[in-house]
This record gives sequence, structure tokens and C-alpha cells, in this order.
Amino acid sequence: MNHMPKISHSVLRSWWNSQSRINAADLTFPLFISEDENAYEAIPSMPDIIRVGVNRLCEYLSPLIQMGLRSVLLFGVLNSADAKDKTGSPADDPEGPVMKAVVLLKELFPELLICCDVCLCEYTSHGHCGILNNDGTINNAASITRISKVACAYAKAGAHVVAPSDMMDNRINAIKCSLMAMGDSKTCIMSYSSKFSSSMYGPFRDACKSGPQFGDRKTYQLPLGSSQLGLLTTERDVKEGADIIMVKPGMFYADVLHALKANHPNHLLAVYQVSGEYVMLHDYATKSGNFKSIVCESLFSLKRAGADILISYFTPIVLKWLSENG
Ligand code: PBG
Ligand code: ZN
Repeated sequence: MNHMPKISHSVLRSWWNSQSRINAADLTFPLFISEDENAYEAIPSMPDIIRVGVNRLCEYLSPLIQMGLRSVLLFGVLNSADAKDKTGSPADDPEGPVMKAVVLLKELFPELLICCDVCLCEYTSHGHCGILNNDGTINNAASITRISKVACAYAKAGAHVVAPSDMMDNRINAIKCSLMAMGDSKTCIMSYSSKFSSSMYGPFRDACKSGPQFGDRKTYQLPLGSSQLGLLTTERDVKEGADIIMVKPGMFYADVLHALKANHPNHLLAVYQVSGEYVMLHDYATKSGNFKSIVCESLFSLKRAGADILISYFTPIVLKWLSENG
């Protein structure tokens, strides 16, 4: 006879339930840093999430740090398109929102791990993630040169982790070489190594004002039906020196997450529960009257699939729950 192991006592259940444990340190909170230094502004497409200016970072983050926040992932938001150009110059402008936020956060919260998303779409006039040829196609060589420059600027400003989300080919190698060329031997590269051309990024693009002005991102983000490409791009990034690999979005791509953990057991694996997932879950969780259970269940699924690091907009509320019940 073949029995199911007994789960008739709460301790027995808790022994089996190990993949449902989330630690505060597993969570990374994405932050939208506004160029308006005093901004503390709601984002209509994302409930409970704000665009925050550098002058408000202390008041916004202090309570979260108190509850155990260990890391943040920074995105810059420009108010108007006026400063944007073809090469995304504002990305590494020392007066730009992310550059200023890095310097200030290091000072305010010396223990906090600071990750910077590295991409051009928030800063280019065309809204694409790389530099374009005249015909509107991606110029890969020019793009990775520019992306490396931005990554180096963030590293120099003090970022502990640079996280390229642009998806240009061989950007990890380019960043790695540029970091080494400037004598940097400490900055960690978290690659968005399996990033799919998802419809779940809409609220983020509103939040960051970073949608493409024409066309789409299908020539550089992965086709939805291809786990193979998800594995191949991650293999490439690992060979090029990525310290941390990532799957994005999360929920719909748990198969890829699981496969990556099996293929790269010795790498840290992150998952990005993206803006569309957040809004979808937030909506149902609110309506259900069972908010906490639903949010936790979504995160458990990602842990079960193999994620070590959870990048989630639910971070503040989860930290609150963790600090309440230990
Ligand atoms: C930009 C970037 C995007 C996200 C993270 N970095 C959007 C995109 O590729 O258009 C999505 C994050 C989210 O939806 O929460 N390269
Ligand atoms: Zn981008």
C-alpha cells in the first residue's frame, strides 16, 4: 500500500511546508524615483505604489527598513519628454533621479543593498531599450556600449548591483568588461536573463512613462511560447559572467523558473513579479476579502518553482506581515 505522508498535526504540516517560508531578506522592492525631488505621488495604474522624489526617500523607506527591508531596485522617472534623446542621455546624468538616489540611499541606509535597473527606455525619446538605426531597428553594438557606460556610472555612484533589463545581445559581457576596465571588482550583475515580451508590463510603463513611441519590444524580448529561448539566453548570460539570473514575469513563467534552477543550481535565481501581475493579484485579493492569503500564495508559488530572490511590489505589505508574526 502506498500512503500519503500524514499531515494531521500542525507541526507535521509545517515540516512539509518549508517552501512557504518567506524571509524579509528574500524580498526586493522596486522603487520609482521621480526627477521631481519632492514627489510623493500616487500612480493611477498601480495601487499603493508611488513615484518618490529623493527628498522623500527617508520618510518613505525608514518604516520599511524598520520592518526588515534589505534591498531595493531603482528605476528613474522623467516628468517630461523634453530631456529625453536618442541615446538616453539622462540615464547617467549625475543630476538624474537614479544617480542622486544611489548616493543618498548609501548615506541614509548604509546596510541597504542598492540595485539599479539598467535600461534606456525611461530616457530615450523613442522609448526603446537600446539605440536605434535610422530604419528604427536596434543597433546592438551601439546599445551595449551605451548600456555598459550607464552600468559603470551607477556602479561608480555606489550601486551594489546593476541589473540590465534592456535585453540587447551580449550586454553582460560588455558590462563585465567595462566594470573590469575601470578597476571595479565588487559590483554584482543581476541579469534579466529570461525576459519575455509580455503584456504584463503595462502599469510599469505608465509609472515610468517608458512605453515605446512606435512598434514593440518583440525583437529583443523573448517570444512567449519559447522556454527554449528562455534557457538559451540565460545560458549565454551565465557564460558572460552574470552573478544573478532572473525570470520575468513570474507567475506565467514558473516552468522557466523551475528549469533554470535545475540548469544553474549554483547561481542565485531571481524572479520579477511584474506590474501587471501585481495589479491583477491586488485586484482579486482586495475583492476576495482574503488579501494576505492570496498575495502569500502567489509568492509561495515562485519560491516553490525555485526563486531565491523575489522582486515584488507587495514587499511593503509582506514585510509588515512578517514583522507582525515573526
Ligand atoms: C524596462 C523594464 C520593464 C520592466 C522592468 N524594466 C518594462 C519593459 O520592458 O517595457 C517591467 C517591470 C514591471 O512591469 O513591473 N526595460
Ligand atoms: Zn527598457
